[in-house]
Amino acid sequence: MFRSRRRPPRPSEAARTTARAAAFTVTFDGREIEALAGQTVAAALWAAGITSWRMTRGSGAPRGVFCGIGVCFDCLVDVNGRPNQRACLVRAEPGDVIRTQEGTGHHG
Ligand code: FES
Repeated sequence: MFRSRRRPPRPSEAARTTARAAAFTVTFDGREIEALAGQTVAAALWAAGITSWRMTRGSGAPRGVFCGIGVCFDCLVDVNGRPNQRACLVRAEPGDVIRTQEGTGHHG
């Protein structure tokens, strides 16, 4: 089978401008990070260099994305005061307040 050696086309300036315009801010544990329209919470956190946002109940071991498709529940995070949100499925929205989740995520 023949494979093209052509490079994929570069995004036009208009496309790059649109992508920048679609960027917005969310916070993670009080730190402002940038997210893009359509990105999941996990993708936004990864893009900001954050790879763990939950601590396990027993040992307090850090967790982030494992499966990335909503199956394993390793990526649970608190979004806008709602614990146990799967970061790999929930879309980031402007102004979201994302917080590290400890244990079961339930307070008290
Ligand atoms: S990474 Fe497995 S459910 Fe999100």
